[in-house]
Amino acid sequence: MKYNVIALTQLNSDQIKKLGFLHQRILHSLLTDLGAPFLERYYQLARADSSVIGMCALGADGNPLGWAVGSPTPEQVARRMSEARVWFILQLLKVLVANPKAIWQAFISSRSASVAMKPGAVELTYIGVDESARNQGLGHELLEAFIEAARARRFSSVELSVETGNAAAIALYTRVGFRVARSYTEGAFDRHRMELILK
Ligand SMILES: CC(C)(COP(=O)(O)OP(=O)(O)OC[C@H]1O[C@@H](n2cnc3c(N)ncnc32)[C@H](O)[C@@H]1OP(=O)(O)O)[C@@H](O)C(=O)NCCC(=O)NCCS
Repeated sequence: MKYNVIALTQLNSDQIKKLGFLHQRILHSLLTDLGAPFLERYYQLARADSSVIGMCALGADGNPLGWAVGSPTPEQVARRMSEARVWFILQLLKVLVANPKAIWQAFISSRSASVAMKPGAVELTYIGVDESARNQGLGHELLEAFIEAARARRFSSVELSVETGNAAAIALYTRVGFRVARSYTEGAFDRHRMELILK
């Protein structure tokens, strides 16, 4: 499988949109429930935010095959979405009509989010690899690239949350040295908070 790993900042608008679609297809998250416009906006904002660490693997056709993205202030990017008030309210109304359960889930998740970052930590918020490219080491390469970037920016640890049943992701994280720091419930989901100490 041919691919090229580049920084999120180097993606063009079409690739950002396609990254949103890839996320929507393979990674369940609050933003997935809210839909493609939220995902596209999230990655646009992440691309423009200098505190974000992000990389994306592009296939030979230039389309995203996998990515890793995170930040020391993960809520900041999501919060910025609501700053474009008219856009935000319009999108929420659309979701309310099409998928009212998603609004409820978003509300529950935002209320029950129990993730307090340790000082000096950066969160790996999202990582994913297209089904067609899995089990060939791309997830591992993206994860290592994220960790290297975190080291270069002198973060003391990398944290992430993972659903307790996500065996493939947990195996990947454990292989590079992440350990479960604690387990918690967020809305309908049981999750581990894992961490990798960098220094
Ligand atoms: C997690 C994910 C990013 C891994 O990507 P990948 O490119 O397949 O990762 P790699 O090929 O580098 O490594 C996969 C490892 O997981 C192992 N694995 C795959 N499925 C597994 C399973 N069900 N149980 C245990 N291990 C599993 C593979 O054997 C491989 O380990 P190895 O290299 O020691 O043989 C990918 O599965 C994915 O995108 N999942 C959906 C999105 C997701 O869950 N993201 C994480 C959210 S926290």
